[in-house]
Amino acid sequence: MKRQKHPNVHPVNARSLHAAAARLRKGALVAFPTETVYGLGANALDKKAVAKIFAAKGRPSDNPMIVHVSDQKMLGKVARRVPARAKRLIAHFWPGPLTLILSKKSSIPSSVTAGLDTVAVRMPQGLGRELVRLAGVPIAAPSANLSGRPSPTTAAHVAEDFPDVFVLDGGPTKHGVESTVVALDPPRILREGAIPGDLLRKMIPDLRRAPGAARHELAAGTGGLSSKVNGAAESPGTKYAHYAPTRPLTLFLRKSSFLSYVREHPRALILCPSRLSPLFSKQRILSLGSSPEEIARNLFAALRTRRRGTELLVLAIPRRGIGRAVMDRLTRAATRIVR
Ligand code: TXA
Ligand code: MG
Repeated sequence: MKRQKHPNVHPVNARSLHAAAARLRKGALVAFPTETVYGLGANALDKKAVAKIFAAKGRPSDNPMIVHVSDQKMLGKVARRVPARAKRLIAHFWPGPLTLILSKKSSIPSSVTAGLDTVAVRMPQGLGRELVRLAGVPIAAPSANLSGRPSPTTAAHVAEDFPDVFVLDGGPTKHGVESTVVALDPPRILREGAIPGDLLRKMIPDLRRAPGAARHELAAGTGGLSSKVNGAAESPGTKYAHYAPTRPLTLFLRKSSFLSYVREHPRALILCPSRLSPLFSKQRILSLGSSPEEIARNLFAALRTRRRGTELLVLAIPRRGIGRAVMDRLTRAATRIVR
């Protein structure tokens, strides 16, 4: 059966890009692809436009947004000061999936930053950047999902959550997990993301991970079966329940416990790296791919799957490179974690 085309989903071309930019300038919402996930954007200088994002998402007003810029000049309109360490990171990683916490200019409404005197800024790659450039204003954009749902990596995911919003369809996103969020004084990672910490540390050797930057730290130490906990986190968004999958999800930290549970639950849907799929020839599986990068790209779509299965079962992957961001998202999505 051919999938019905959604009336608000527009393939990217010169016309749809210009239409999207015009909407943003008028104060309307536009969902657009970035290299990480789709964003739900509005003019960051327009308080009323920004209010529409919170309303549409059902987002708590104490969760600040990322402001997207297209060039250094626009960065100057958003941030009061760019310290030397930030300049070094910008030179290497922008445009790209790195968000920096900087001191905020007063032109940015306080609703964007949830009353903080800092602002999260990033320069996206490719299409996202082109759209911001065409709009001519900085664009506030959280991930384009209803609050608490998995981040969208395709236009169809966005339309599922926001059937009435204009969506630019640029195909599946490149990284599949959100940007890495870094604060500078002292330098620390507030949210694991598409750029691994080790890569950032080549530039900023004393970069640490802030408590709560990865969910497993919050849940650690409980032993055996752990239920999820809400710990204090410096990046306000990381304290909320996140990425809720379509049904209960159990994350297994050890292969042995994973295999024995799987054997006893033949009607579950198993999300697994492709190298393990031969083990489950008689079961329902959804392959996540082989490399950590591929698993990152497929992860959020898997959390939205409509495939049959009483529950979702997933085995931990090594916390290396982008695997760290994958494990952070899985830990937040999990209904429970089994060692
Ligand atoms: O890749 C991404 O970052 C995507 C695309 C659309 O750019 N956006 C995204 O936005 O993931 P969102 O709203 O889902 O996550 C923003 C994160 C939250 O954890 C929020 O708490 C944090 O950034 N954040 C925003 N402003 C902050 C600030 N001033 N201080 C500390 N954390 C901040
Ligand atoms: Mg989000």
